[in-house]
Order: sequence, then structure tokens, then C-alpha cells
Amino acid sequence: MPDSFPSPPGFSSVDEYLSSLAEFYLRPFVQSLAGELHIINFFLTSPDLFEDTLPEEWVKFFDQAEFDDVLDFLIYFRKSPSLEPPDSLSVFLSTVQSLSIDRNRSDKTIRSKPIPSLHTSALSVGMSPKKIHECEYLSSVISDVCSRIGTPHVIDLGSGKGYLSRTLAHEYNCSVVAVETVESRTKGAARLDSLYDRKGGKRKKAKAEMGTGSLIHVEKFVDSGDLTDIVEQANLIGHKMVLAGLHTCGNLSHHALKSLFDTQEVHAVAVVGCCYNLMTEKDSEDDVVGYPMSRKLQSYSIPLPTTARMLACQAPATWTRETRESFFTRHFYRALLQLIFHDRGLLGQVQNIGSLRKQWYSSFYTYCRGACKRAVGAYDADSDASSENPFDISEEVSTEYHDRLLSKKRRLCILWTLMACTVGPLTEALIHLDRYYFLKENGASEVHVSVVFDQVISARNLVVVGVKG
Ligand SMILES: C[S@@+](CC[C@H](N)C(=O)[O-])C[C@H]1O[C@@H](n2cnc3c(N)ncnc32)[C@H](O)[C@@H]1O
Repeated sequence: MPDSFPSPPGFSSVDEYLSSLAEFYLRPFVQSLAGELHIINFFLTSPDLFEDTLPEEWVKFFDQAEFDDVLDFLIYFRKSPSLEPPDSLSVFLSTVQSLSIDRNRSDKTIRSKPIPSLHTSALSVGMSPKKIHECEYLSSVISDVCSRIGTPHVIDLGSGKGYLSRTLAHEYNCSVVAVETVESRTKGAARLDSLYDRKGGKRKKAKAEMGTGSLIHVEKFVDSGDLTDIVEQANLIGHKMVLAGLHTCGNLSHHALKSLFDTQEVHAVAVVGCCYNLMTEKDSEDDVVGYPMSRKLQSYSIPLPTTARMLACQAPATWTRETRESFFTRHFYRALLQLIFHDRGLLGQVQNIGSLRKQWYSSFYTYCRGACKRAVGAYDADSDASSENPFDISEEVSTEYHDRLLSKKRRLCILWTLMACTVGPLTEALIHLDRYYFLKENGASEVHVSVVFDQVISARNLVVVGVKG
């Protein structure tokens, strides 16, 4: 079967697609959206990052148009009759569209006809509707790959609570080795295995077709593509295996793909990646883990800094009004707090804050309390008992900042949406092109990148399949 990549229409080859994408992505304006500007610093420039970054005619248009119409235009490229965007913006967005992978298109070279619904099966215990959908579709692809290379043996890398492993073992009778680094998840998976057995799931094995339908769990932190010790532990030296992964986060996807060449027993891989922000960028020639993996992408020297990789984790088309508002509030609060830190001379002393639990976002004052507990880092309040702790932000101060800058929240939301809708899909395409070329350059006999899930249900929906040459 010829290799396949879901390039957008109009390109005669994957090389041609990459070349056009790289040319656009490396333009200074796209580069500024992709990494040089940080939404967290929105209020640190004057008048703000929005005016600092965007062309004047875009600023004017974004400031005047209805907020919801602007979001519709950016996210779906849908134009309300009253909307009159500047031509330069329309051309920019249509170029992004023409370079983005169509995430709704399903490629027939990869089978995606799922098993009968898991909803009614004992296997669905503990699964969300999203997980059911993912397991239904990906297990079908993996069982096909198993049949093609003639093996029932699967390693499920980053198996979490073992939902995919259990589906493969009990619905397709594969022999699965589930590998997971977090102890509580492996234990949770074992509990779900027993629950499945108690619910009578085991009886299904009577129809055993492909293999023994077994499942073992291995607790291990994987840090390379050499999985020989796992194969050994499972007593499978010399057996053909398929390396599978459902949302192998960050570099785990890289280890998975490398296992095709670094582990003798692995004859095929089928992985869906996620959390690109956790990937690393190559820091030297000797770095065999980070992005870019392929010589092809290396030759283009396209940086993918954290901002770009974080944007690639977004899926604006699947945002609901509620999720959208929650993102916007998070970014607005974090940018406001950054301004307070700046005004208090604290920027160098702040620890990474990350995401807080939902209840901390009920007001900006509440957020300041939650975030400062994390941000305080090395600051030692006792050593400076004479003065006030600068990480104490009173309700009065937080309200003053919030109310003074609230009118700019709209600009911050529009800039974030613009970045997510443009840099996001293009970065995700580059990451998958890198994976595609890596497999080809190393001699895989077949490489396919394909849409495997409904994007509205599961946003990270591209599976990378490679078969050993
Ligand atoms: C996004 S979760 C997906 C879990 C599971 N496949 C699912 O879809 O329900 C990724 C899992 O990979 C595990 N993981 C991440 N890096 C790993 C590594 N280097 N070695 C082993 N497991 C890892 C995480 O602990 C986590 O459970």
C-alpha cells in the first residue's frame, strides 16, 4: 500500500506540502505569533501586545466588530453579512486554511470501522464517552495492523488505566503488555481488570480468535525506543509485536516511533500523540529524543518553541461557549497577575504557576490567592519580616487591576484565538510531517498518517502508522 499523509488539497506530494507550509510558517509575522510573543505578557508592553503585534487595519477591525462575529470568523472562517474584514486578514486566514490538515477527513487506507459499540459492553466500565469512542476506533486500526503483520502481540505504551489494552485483549483477543509509569494508574488498571472479569467479561474469551486475549501490566518509565527489557519481562523475545499508543504524550510518541527501529520485536507502530507542550526540542546533534526527529524537518530549521507547541494542543473548532470563556478567563487572570508581579519587581522570583483547579477562577482575587501560593517559590517572608510580603495581594488591589484592565480582555481573547486558530493547526501538521518523514527515512516499508477519531469528540485525532521494512 503506498504511503499516505492527509495533505490539504492542491499539493501533488507531501514534499510540496511541507515546502509551502515551511515557507509560510517561517514568515516573521507567523513566527511572532508562534513564539516571540507570550500572552502572559499581554499587559507588559504599551499600550498592549495586541497593538504591538497586529497590523493597524486588523486592530481597527477587531476593535469595532461584534465579538462573537470575530470569533466565528477566526474559528470557522464564517463571515456574518455585516462583517467587513480587511483583505489582508481574509487572505491570511485562507492561507492558513489551505495549509491545514482537514481533520474531518477519514482516510480509507487506514481501517476505521469500529467494533460494535463498546457502550453496552462490560469493557466500558470507567470509560467516558470520549474514551469509548477512542478505544472503539483505535483498537480497530491496531487489530488490522496485527492481522497484516501476523501477530496477536501488542505493547500499549502509556496505557494509563488500560482502557485500550482491555479492549484489544478482550474484544480482539490480542496478547497485550500494558506499559505505564504512574503506579496509581497501573493499580487502577488492575482494579478495572478484576471488575471486568467479575462482570462476566471473561466469558467472551470463549470465541478466542487472534491470540490468547491476555493482558499484563508493566510499570516502567520509558525513556528511549529500546523496549527490549519490556519484551524480555513479557517473555516475548523473538515474537513479532505491534507498538500501540493512545495519546502518548510529549516525547513518549518519539520513543514509540523509534521502537520500530530500536526494538527487534517491534514490527509495526500505531500511535496517536498528544500534549505537544511536553515534547522537547533537540538541544544538540546528539539529542535523539527531541523534535525534529527527521532529517527532512531538520533541513528546514523550523523552531517549535513552547508557545507554538501549546497552541498545537488547542482545538478551537471544538470549543463550546463555556470552554472558550474558561480559557479566556484563565489567560486574562494570568496576564493581570503578571502585571502585578512586574509592578512589584517580582518577575525574576516567580515560580511556574500552571493551571489551578476550577474553583480558584471564581474571581480575580481568589485566583491571586491560589496562584500566589504557587508563585511564591523561593521568597522567604520571615527573612524580611519588616516589610509586607509582596505576594500578598489584597482584594482592593486585585479589584483595582481587574476593573482598570477589564475592557482590554476582549483584545486578549481575540489575540489568543487568532494564535490558536493559525499557529495551532500548522504546528500540529509540522509535528506529524516530522513523524512521517522520520519513519520513511529509517526504512519503514509503509507509513500512514490518518484521521482516526471524530475531532469534535477527541481533538488529538491523528494516528501515525508505520510498518517495518
Ligand atoms: C494522555 S495519557 C493516556 C493514557 C491512556 N493511553 C488512555 O488513553 O487512557 C498518557 C499516559 O502515558 C503515561 N506516560 C507518559 N510518559 C511515559 C513514559 N515515559 N513511560 C511510561 N508511561 C508514560 C502517563 O503516565 C499517562 O498515563
